[in-house]
Amino acid sequence: MQGLLVFGRTGQVARELAALAPDATFVGRDRANLTDPAACAALIRAARPRAVINAAAYTAVDRAETDAETARLVNAEAPAAMARACADLGIPFLHISTDYVFDGSGDQPRAEDAP
Ligand SMILES: NC(=O)c1ccc[n+]([C@@H]2O[C@H](COP(=O)([O-])OP(=O)(O)OC[C@H]3O[C@@H](n4cnc5c(N)ncnc54)[C@H](OP(=O)(O)O)[C@@H]3O)[C@@H](O)[C@H]2O)c1
Repeated sequence: MQGLLVFGRTGQVARELAALAPDATFVGRDRANLTDPAACAALIRAARPRAVINAAAYTAVDRAETDAETARLVNAEAPAAMARACADLGIPFLHISTDYVFDGSGDQPRAEDAP
């Protein structure tokens, strides 16, 4: 069993994490393309890490409106598959949201279907 597995290598969040956790394993698009959720889950199951952070995302918000299927695969289906793989292994999964959606207001947990 290895340590921390991070999806994303070149992005802003991944590079900040690399500075904080240089021993973590960072996997880029070449090893795990989030358009293939099953492959991402399989990588987790094979690596058996201690915890997983997803720092990869479809962040081109304007393009996401015309390329909705890719955005859905990368931002919804792949993190869901990662979360299920982590739950199966009993390890923590951290998915970073965005303050474009969750702005820090309120004092109650958000429902998944909250507007
Ligand atoms: N940056 C912030 O201050 C901030 C704040 C709050 C939340 N967040 C959240 O943190 C997450 C990451 O944000 P970021 O700012 O680091 O974004 P970013 O700089 O745009 O990086 C996105 C990363 O995702 C990877 N990626 C995109 N599509 C992929 C795919 N199909 N398969 C594999 N990897 C793919 C990119 O790889 P390539 O380089 O190969 O394209 C890149 O490494 C997002 O969910 C964002 O909403 C960020």
